[in-house]
Amino acid sequence: MKQTVQTLQQKKAQGEKLTMLTCYDYSMAKLMDGAGLDMLLVGDSLGNVILGYDDTIPVTMEDMIHHTAAVARGTREALVVADMPFLSYQTSTYDAVVNAGRLMKEGRAGAVKLEGGAAFCEQIAAIVRASIPVMAHLGMTPQSVHTLGGFKVQGKTMEAARKLLEDARAVEQAGAFAVVLECVPEKLAAYVTAQLHIPTIGIGAGAGCDGQVLVYQDMLGMFSDYCPKFVKRFADIGSAMQSAFRSYCTEVQMGQFPEKAYTYTIDDAIIEQLMQEDAQ
Ligand code: KIV
Repeated sequence: MKQTVQTLQQKKAQGEKLTMLTCYDYSMAKLMDGAGLDMLLVGDSLGNVILGYDDTIPVTMEDMIHHTAAVARGTREALVVADMPFLSYQTSTYDAVVNAGRLMKEGRAGAVKLEGGAAFCEQIAAIVRASIPVMAHLGMTPQSVHTLGGFKVQGKTMEAARKLLEDARAVEQAGAFAVVLECVPEKLAAYVTAQLHIPTIGIGAGAGCDGQVLVYQDMLGMFSDYCPKFVKRFADIGSAMQSAFRSYCTEVQMGQFPEKAYTYTIDDAIIEQLMQEDAQ
């Protein structure tokens, strides 16, 4: 069934959990879509896991459109959500609408995600007015890593917890259809979830959220630069891949690959004639 903002919100109303993973290319989109994921997030985390940057700051609109379009081509049922990269919406509501529009028009996203709460409600409302669904992102917001002072759990003090709740209510009021809560204490995330009509999607925010999201390279053991506490390894695909790469190297070096089964044939007479002609 094609997932839409409406079907996802119905799931929250019925107490059904929502599933989302990051996705950055066509082949992976086909696998995830076929597995029944509700949402595929083309996260600006591609700056880390695909492009090798230290953070998400350098990611451009062109990067996001390129990867979103690839994911959209491989997706039939899941809702494709594309991240708005750093400075694509912070600068003005005009920029926010134009760039969200590009992610939908050129990238074929079904929704966009942006980081921030009450301070970005004007942008959220303007994008929603342009008929583009918006997912908000609160708590640990990686684009603000330099003001947050690092990748840390958010909302732990009374003031910070109150602010998170206010921000969550504000983005709902502004028209966001869902909100990601990243690195937030479990009880706070559960309370915020209970206060909102829109679904919360947790990452490092405990089981009380309406849904969960992870970076797929983390949950498959394919990224080893760092591993946050909230990451559960569902498989060790990284080791399996490395072992296959080693076998490939050995077989090529030993002349074992490619075997006959993996090669194409040609009529011997053609090769003989070619050699004769070439010798003249
Ligand atoms: O960029 C991303 O992958 C994200 C998730 C971690 C929620 O924003």
